[in-house]
Amino acid sequence: MLESQVLQQAQSLLYQQAMVSMQGEWVGAIAAIPRRQTSKAQKAEHEGALNYGEIFIRDNVPVMTYLLLQNKTPVVKNFLTTCLHLQSHSHQTRGIFPTSFVEHDGELVADYGQRAIGRVVSIDATLWWVILANAYVNHSQDHDWAAQPQVQSGIQKFLDLILRPGFRESPTLYVPDGAFMIDRPLDVWGAPLEIQVLLYGALRSAANLLRHSPSPRPHTPHACIRYARNLRRHLLKHYWVTSRTVQVLRRRPTEQYGDGIQNEFNIQTETIPHWLQDWMGDRGGYLIGNIRTGRPDFRFFTLGNCLGAIFDVMSRNQQYALFRLIMRNQQHLVAQMPLRICHPPLDDVEWRKKTGYDRKNLPWCYHNGGHWACLTWFLVIAMQRQQPLMPEDLKYQVRSFLKECYELMLRQLPQQQWAEYHDGPTAYWIGQQARTYQTWTIVGFLLTHHFLHEDPKESHILDL
Ligand code: GLC
Repeated sequence: MLESQVLQQAQSLLYQQAMVSMQGEWVGAIAAIPRRQTSKAQKAEHEGALNYGEIFIRDNVPVMTYLLLQNKTPVVKNFLTTCLHLQSHSHQTRGIFPTSFVEHDGELVADYGQRAIGRVVSIDATLWWVILANAYVNHSQDHDWAAQPQVQSGIQKFLDLILRPGFRESPTLYVPDGAFMIDRPLDVWGAPLEIQVLLYGALRSAANLLRHSPSPRPHTPHACIRYARNLRRHLLKHYWVTSRTVQVLRRRPTEQYGDGIQNEFNIQTETIPHWLQDWMGDRGGYLIGNIRTGRPDFRFFTLGNCLGAIFDVMSRNQQYALFRLIMRNQQHLVAQMPLRICHPPLDDVEWRKKTGYDRKNLPWCYHNGGHWACLTWFLVIAMQRQQPLMPEDLKYQVRSFLKECYELMLRQLPQQQWAEYHDGPTAYWIGQQARTYQTWTIVGFLLTHHFLHEDPKESHILDL
């Protein structure tokens, strides 16, 4: 297939099959486009046994970003307003946004986790809504929308969830296992990176949005910024690692008490894995997956790191170190399909204990080391927005790296029916339980093409 035909196919799948209308207006896109049902299992799935026919907030982040770039701003506004109507009013969950929603007999039915597999809650949806709302207002300059009382009150309700007293002093948001894109147990409870970086983005976005109202109450932009600053300091201090910082970590004392100590989380040297040495080389750096008392998680999580760059949690030099690390480990993180969601996978006894024998998350599969093409555009914008100031050698390397990523997607995705994910270690196989015609795979490709070949300047679209 020619490149132009692939692009055309992707666009027509998005507009003609993925987008859902209600009362004549688009309200969002379903997660995967259903195929003709040939087997009983497929029929059951289409009839609602699984939820890929629902509109997920997180899956619509790339969709809405793409629509902004196509200047279809009213659709994005309608999506944001629809989600806002679904913000929870119930006593225990007031202020949260649903993971997904679906139309039933003209009514929208939302899932806040009460219908989800394993009853997991999704915390990222709420954070993403605020970030997307800010991107919409920045792009469209629709300040009137932001100033509306219901929008302002939605943001205040979100801030009620964050800026409230709690049992801990730490600025991180403490969450249960599987509270974001990785929505099954994978030992990602506590303070997983993706949530913390999204929280940073959401607080900075909320501060911008609150400025559109004359006197925001009770939470002020200033309070959001102060919190975000603390959080950034915390992430850079405890999550950022390079070969140099690891050597300091390895020689810290343990069992310390009180103020002014070096090892606040009482981490033993043995928790620092050996694969790190070769993985980081002497010029790489990244934000580790999680910090918890005694149990840091050194796994590399791709989305949390890309967002850490896009939201400038990392300094410019740290971003360069991240890009060098990713390219150094291209064989792991890209292989035959960009990008691996996290590295390395949990295996053996760790897989058994920490996933609860989850067969969907076998080592190298799905969230546990699988590859997701829908993540590529995040890395593309992270790299593209830094391109102009990059040292020449890095710029050259980044350019050819991104070209390779794009060509892998172009060559394989249409043939593989826009599969949801690929299984490792080389990502050559389509995911064992992957949906086909997955919307964020389709749109992720369109976005990758847009930022690489149409308008690299627009890679600032998610800037805070
Ligand atoms: C799976 C993924 C989740 C995604 C959903 C819809 O549950 O783990 O991240 O939002 O499918 O595509």
